[in-house]
Amino acid sequence: MAATIIRGSEIAQQIREDLKKETARLKARGVVPGLVTILVGQDPASMSYVSAKQKTAYDLGFYSLQDSLPEDIPESLLLERISQYNEDPRIHGILVQLPLPEHISEEKILYAIDPGKDVDGFHPVNVGRLMVGQADFLPCTPAGIQQLLIRSGVRIDGAEVVVVGRSNIVGKPIANMLLQKQEGANATVTVCHTGTRDIGFHTRRADILIVAAGKPRAITADMVKEGAVVIDVGVNRIGVSPEGKAQLCGDVDFEAVRQKAGAITPVPGGVGPMTITMLMVNTLKAARISAG
Ligand code: GUN
Repeated sequence: MAATIIRGSEIAQQIREDLKKETARLKARGVVPGLVTILVGQDPASMSYVSAKQKTAYDLGFYSLQDSLPEDIPESLLLERISQYNEDPRIHGILVQLPLPEHISEEKILYAIDPGKDVDGFHPVNVGRLMVGQADFLPCTPAGIQQLLIRSGVRIDGAEVVVVGRSNIVGKPIANMLLQKQEGANATVTVCHTGTRDIGFHTRRADILIVAAGKPRAITADMVKEGAVVIDVGVNRIGVSPEGKAQLCGDVDFEAVRQKAGAITPVPGGVGPMTITMLMVNTLKAARISAG
């Protein structure tokens, strides 16, 4: 039987409706959630991600600020900018779009953000809190994946979860989140990566397969168990349509795997919209915490 399609765009919309109401309640108390997105340079993919984040923040009624900086900005000036936003009471969330140009240390920049305004959840303080199950800010893509699973009624407790990819942004945090002894987690988690000898051996055991490998259609139907839930985090640009739109595919061979899986996320319209929505969840939370 063909898989159920897990539509992230619809689940994200439901969460955004709740966020709108909560934003209005906070505003009535005199607090307007504020998000600054910092973009260095003019990478087209980064520009489109950042403008989607800004638009969502604006639509929810946030104070939203886009800070576009030149590609050759010295690291010291970017650090100064961050410390200004750290002190700015209108700003509750600071997001520096990655990747940064080579001459700027990503580590230095991310570590300079006040952990209380780190709505990406990348600061080591927040990474550490996640590890011990006490995060204020979960990183947005993993948080979006967890919500997709929970809101689609997927049983995580006791499940065999296999994650393909060990990035700091997706693979490592989602693995950690799902192994916590908490509701919406408590899974047995395996992480596969470029050093794994036989990835298929592991993926075929997965009740829930989460793929963030960065390789177009790397997961084929023979690597998936009948009835598994497949979450595809990949966004690969494989061409341009005659109308000039980027054509995307995931890390999973969608058409073949959907014949075998129990449920699967599409690309686009799966994990992507959830990532942006969880950034808004974090910004609202930061505003709420700061309001006391
Ligand atoms: N670049 C790609 N994904 C992300 C993300 O989740 N946050 C930031 N800041 N940059 C990114």
